[in-house]
Amino acid sequence: MRIGVLTSGGDAPGMNAAVRTIAVVGMARGHEVIGIQRGYVGLLKKETFTFRLPEIDGISRYGGTILGSARSKEFPTQEGQKRALQVLQELGLDGLVVIGGNGSLTGAHLLAQQSNVKVVGLPASIDNDIGHCGLSIGTDTAVNTIVDACDRIMDTARAHQRAFIVEVMGRQSGFLAMRAGIAAEADAILYGEKQRTEEETIEMMMNVLRRCFAPEREKTRALIIKAEGVAFSTTEMATKLEEKLQDEIPGTSIRATILGHVVRGGRPSALDRALAQRLAFASIMACERGLTDVMMSWEPPTRFGTPTDDPSVWIIPIADMLEDTQNMLNGTSPIIQKRVQLLNQVEHLLAF
Ligand code: F6P
Repeated sequence: MRIGVLTSGGDAPGMNAAVRTIAVVGMARGHEVIGIQRGYVGLLKKETFTFRLPEIDGISRYGGTILGSARSKEFPTQEGQKRALQVLQELGLDGLVVIGGNGSLTGAHLLAQQSNVKVVGLPASIDNDIGHCGLSIGTDTAVNTIVDACDRIMDTARAHQRAFIVEVMGRQSGFLAMRAGIAAEADAILYGEKQRTEEETIEMMMNVLRRCFAPEREKTRALIIKAEGVAFSTTEMATKLEEKLQDEIPGTSIRATILGHVVRGGRPSALDRALAQRLAFASIMACERGLTDVMMSWEPPTRFGTPTDDPSVWIIPIADMLEDTQNMLNGTSPIIQKRVQLLNQVEHLLAF
């Protein structure tokens, strides 16, 4: 088979391990594998990349993606779709593996529906916001990066008896804030799914800070992790809290740190490499079996889909994944409700 591979949307640590595995496994099994650069932008411009084994040796250790990535505005349009189908034909592809998040896999779905090319998706997003998927490529590294950053910030916080609000990525998903917040011993975790108003949040945060800095606690730092998806500004919230703190708890202060894209880069964790490799291996098997319009998923919490020989890897129709993603993003998914419920159970213990 002639199989193309592209990475698209926000890059995620582990993408390179997936790309390398697709190239190595594909070639070893007698296929021709070609890289497509800069996601769908590169596909429309027919920008290809020839894999040479010496050049991809060792790339699993690097963050980002050697193929480059992009968010294409043209691809979803009618013209863009027409051009993409034409390029797939010109490249003579039998299979295409798309590595990316919701937007990218929506694109994969469109291509699969309109062509004979076997299109297989791999879930890659640090936000872990992909339906029927327990863990997407990049999330574990991002969580570790956040925890490491918080450990460092807490060193300086302790030295000054300070509270910090650390904002982490996650446009529509609080997963990174939740997972990293617990691991970093945060005193409070703010995430969009909770839908608290700014006033309610400030009130609640003041209670947390009062508890943290109560003299009998002898605590010299406080950590609030806030997801990017919370509707109000982190710096404005810090300013409002600072005013109240000055009045109520002299000797303390508050600072805000927005981690931003720091969270998306860096050396992929062993877990991200392993899951990227295993999902990528399964994607070549899926192409060989003639499957199309499917995503290889990691341990779907819904137990939805078809199992493979690898107990952690499941095959999910992309249409079902997209439907479940919508439910996750609008809060109606039982998985999201469970997450919120579990966090509710321990919320009061965080700053105990
Ligand atoms: O990849 C997901 C994500 O990192 C979100 O958490 C974030 O809101 C967004 O991408 C940022 O995208 P961009 O790099 O295009 O600004």
